Order: sequence, then C-alpha cells, then structure tokens
Amino acid sequence: MIAEASPVPSSAVEMRPNEFERIRRMAYEFCGVDLKGKHILVSSRLGKKIRLLQLSSFTQYCDQVEADSSGAMFTEMIDALTTNHTSFYRESRHFDFIREVVLPELPEQGEVAIWSAACSTGEEPYTIAFTVIEALGQKAYSRLAITATDISTRVLEKAKKGLYPLTSVEAVSPEMRRECLMKGTGQYASQCMVKAETKKLITFRQWNLLEQCPSIGPFQVIFCRNVMIYFDQQTQQLVVDNLVSRLLPGGYLFIGHAESLNGITHSLEYVCTATYRKPGGSRIGKAGVPRRVSTGTR
Ligand SMILES: C[S@@+](CC[C@H](N)C(=O)[O-])C[C@H]1O[C@@H](n2cnc3c(N)ncnc32)[C@H](O)[C@@H]1O
Repeated sequence: MIAEASPVPSSAVEMRPNEFERIRRMAYEFCGVDLKGKHILVSSRLGKKIRLLQLSSFTQYCDQVEADSSGAMFTEMIDALTTNHTSFYRESRHFDFIREVVLPELPEQGEVAIWSAACSTGEEPYTIAFTVIEALGQKAYSRLAITATDISTRVLEKAKKGLYPLTSVEAVSPEMRRECLMKGTGQYASQCMVKAETKKLITFRQWNLLEQCPSIGPFQVIFCRNVMIYFDQQTQQLVVDNLVSRLLPGGYLFIGHAESLNGITHSLEYVCTATYRKPGGSRIGKAGVPRRVSTGTR
C-alpha cells in the first residue's frame, strides 16, 4: 500500500525514540543483530527506503513491513541494517591453518566438509575453495563440499554470481586466478568471474544462525567470522550452541579475530587466536562420502 501523501524528503522524516525501539526489537528478534546506540545508522539506511516508498513516518514503514505476508519487505529491511563487509583472504591466518593443520589431519579420502556461516557476498567460501584446491590439486574437485549461508538473500545472489572487480582479487595468487577465475571482456573487462567448476564446490543457501540446524553438516570446519560481534551474549550463546552441534569431534571453529567466546559456555578447546577445536579424536572425523558427482544439488 502506498501512502496518499505526496513524496516526503527523507530528511523531513524524523525517527522517534519509540520507532527506533520498534525497529530495534524487530531486528533483534529476527536475526539477533543488536542495534543499540545505532540511531543514525537506522535512520539513514531506512530513511532511504521511506523516501522511495513515499511514506511519511517510520511507523508507517514498520506497519507495512509487518503487514507484508511475503516477508520480502522484512528481508529488505534486515539487508539494509546489516553490515556485509568482507574480502578475499580476510584474516588470512585461518586459510594458512587449513593448509598447514586441518588438511594434513584429515583422512586421505572422503569429503572435506566446510561451512562458511554468514558468508556475505561469497569472498570467504571462494577463498576456502582456492585454499583447498591449491593444497589438494585436482582431488579437491571430488572431495570438497562447502556450504555457504547467510541470512541476506541479496548478498547470496551476489555470491552465487561470483562476479568481482579485478581489484578485489589481488590477494589471490596468479596460479589460483588461472585455475579458478576468468577475466571478463568488453563491458566486464574490469571484472572477473569464478569458474563453474569452482562454484560447483559450494552450496549457497539462506540460513539464520539463530535457528537450529540439524539438516546441514556435520562439518570438519566451520567459519563463523565477523558476525557474532553484532550479537549480544545471549544470542552469541545460542549461535555457538547451534554451531558446535554441527561440528564433528576434532573439528575446528573459526571466529573473527576481533571476536571472542569469553563469557560463552562451550565444550571447545582454545587452539590459537580465533580458532577453537571440538574435543575428540586425533584426526578429524569423517564427514561422509563425496557427493558432488551423484547429487548435482549445488
Ligand atoms: C560482516 S559480514 C561477515 C562476512 C564474512 N564472514 C567475513 O568475515 O568476511 C556479516 C554477515 O552476517 C550476516 N548475518 C547477520 N545476522 C545473521 C544471522 N542471524 N544469520 C545469518 N547471517 C547473519 C549478514 O547478512 C552479513 O552478510
């Protein structure tokens, strides 16, 4: 429903404290993101939507979001309020750790199952793929199974496309660029595309970290980086419980370098900065048989 009032410039729409609290509660209850103290961010990002929709107040906007039974407006609101910053080889020590510690610990055959939870626009799961391909060579294509999830459908669409500016792949080695990326031509000359064989190693799906996740995994490694920083302790506890339940004994959990599990109750052993291990077994548990060829589900 479009308001009858004529377009109102966003600067004229002031967000009242009760409206901020309403939006804050909606975001917190749905995805755990705590917007405490972020009045300016909320007002400026949702102010743009209010202008586009030609609404005259934040209350009107919230009413519309709540009335939209498709959930599309709610998803768009969450998209606007979350931070999606990421990059290839971000916090690169985790990728060194995969190469130097995780892969040598794995059984020589069988699936290498890795979850990039909160994958944003895909740079993290693609970096995992480059790292394992670089280490295992052609065997990676039949063994590696990455699950990449995010709450935001907008970032997942970008991730699935796998189209990035050339400037963003500077951290990728020339060998891996040749192996996994195609340089664009014509109007795409300043971009590159992840090759289909590499994309096939990754299943992208929408997932809210607050939900229990018995249907995915288990995994030998879980990346859950630079998202818990937006959650309060109670939500962090819920998310860590969910993640640990999907980690195989001996498997590793990576969190962001600016994050910590202080104050969270868990069974993990601290290994090194932002790296934890689930007790049990000297070699990481077997995830399952490789399923890439038969299922065609990616
Ligand atoms: C800053 S990005 C982190 C990307 C990547 N992990 C990295 O470290 O570069 C945070 C991502 O978390 C996602 N996110 C926020 N709340 C979430 C939730 N409850 N469940 C799943 N993803 C969530 C956001 O959509 C965003 O893409």
